[in-house]
Amino acid sequence: MNAIDGIQPAGSFDPFDLNKPHAQWKQFREESPIFYHEPSGYWVASRYDDIKQIFDDWKCFSSENAQKPMRPMSEAGRKILKDGGFTAYSGLTARVPPDHTRIRKVAQSCFGPRRFKSIEPQIEAIVKTHLDKLEEAGRDGKPVNFWEIVAFPVPAYVLFTLMGIPDADVPKIKQYGMSRGKMTWSDLSDEEMIPVAHDMVAYWKYIHDLLDMRRANPGDDFPSDLLRLQSEGAEIEDEEIAGVLYSTLFAGHETTSTFMGNYVLAMMDNRDAWDAIKANDKLIPNAVEEMLRYMPSVVGWRRKARYATTVGGVDLPEGAEVLMITGSANRDESQFPDGEKLDITRDNARTHLSFGYGIHYCLGFQLAKMEATILLRQLSQRFPNLRLAPGFEAHYHRNITFRVPTSVMVELGDPA
Ligand code: HEM
Repeated sequence: MNAIDGIQPAGSFDPFDLNKPHAQWKQFREESPIFYHEPSGYWVASRYDDIKQIFDDWKCFSSENAQKPMRPMSEAGRKILKDGGFTAYSGLTARVPPDHTRIRKVAQSCFGPRRFKSIEPQIEAIVKTHLDKLEEAGRDGKPVNFWEIVAFPVPAYVLFTLMGIPDADVPKIKQYGMSRGKMTWSDLSDEEMIPVAHDMVAYWKYIHDLLDMRRANPGDDFPSDLLRLQSEGAEIEDEEIAGVLYSTLFAGHETTSTFMGNYVLAMMDNRDAWDAIKANDKLIPNAVEEMLRYMPSVVGWRRKARYATTVGGVDLPEGAEVLMITGSANRDESQFPDGEKLDITRDNARTHLSFGYGIHYCLGFQLAKMEATILLRQLSQRFPNLRLAPGFEAHYHRNITFRVPTSVMVELGDPA
């Protein structure tokens, strides 16, 4: 169903507009797979093979611009950041070897699958509690916002279990996360940058307070593990630990929230897939892979060429900044036949690029998939007749990377 959702002429490319991008991305893949987009200053890549090559060639394509704000902070915003002592730098994604290799090794050792698996019962419980809230809100048959009640909070409660952060802090950290996403990947006006800058100062302070607390009172959680490894001789500085938390406290929930919102939209538009997973929950893990391919949260990522090179027959100059549209690569017919269609039995679905590729490959991928699987199973069993509210059409926030729906309005239908 809904293979391609609308047409925008190529000339009108606006990388921040993620409302109906798929027809235009397809056009790029077919007609101009790598082109220079003057208004943004980025080379735009849209084909699977080219993007994979760029991810893979980390010696040429550095990730140093992965966290660079698309619009530089205004003077007033910079003053707020400076006065507030905000000195955060990317934990991992924008670091380059050898620092990246060294820090990733430490972070990775605290992020093993065993750790994620150990909180599976808590994830089941968190999902159940939020589906109870959804049921309560939709009891009289009126449309309810799945995004606000379930997708937005659930990954934060899960992540904070790993972080040892009290539930009461969830709204605050979600607020900081939204501001972080806007600061880096959106096109805010000078005025809109002011509250974002205040949030960033508060966020950075929160991380330092959290680390001070864990130094005084270590627990069984991710920040305490990082500090313990450091005290046992791991090569990681205090500010690098703070940087890893600055990244993870964002990457560990915003991405997954967005994915949950998007996959419910995809499922509701593809009733046959929904019916299939209701009838056989063993299909869910591959359905999750396919939805990561088809409706991911991260649709664009950036790299910078350290020296002149050629990709897909196009010469890129030294210093070229590249916007890789991974959301487009995921639908490239050369890798995914019938790529504009959701097919939950697709056998190579897991070769999508939604978690990146190569040395920066997402460290939280197992957790994200586990959460998505649990939610989808509980949701389909409890609300088999779930559907989008009549007339509802998804709209997306302006962003070059995160395809975040502003709401996901559903009706619960008769319960199971
Ligand atoms: C659906 C959910 C998620 C998506 C779509 C996603 C996507 C990504 C992407 C695109 C990257 C950059 C990869 C690259 O440059 O090659 C990344 C890196 C990363 N992700 Fe995720 N992520 C998700 C969930 C998570 C979770 C749950 C966590 C933590 C618990 C996490 C932690 C990280 C970290 C720490 C990195 C940096 C790795 C590095 O630079 O070495 N992510 N993720």
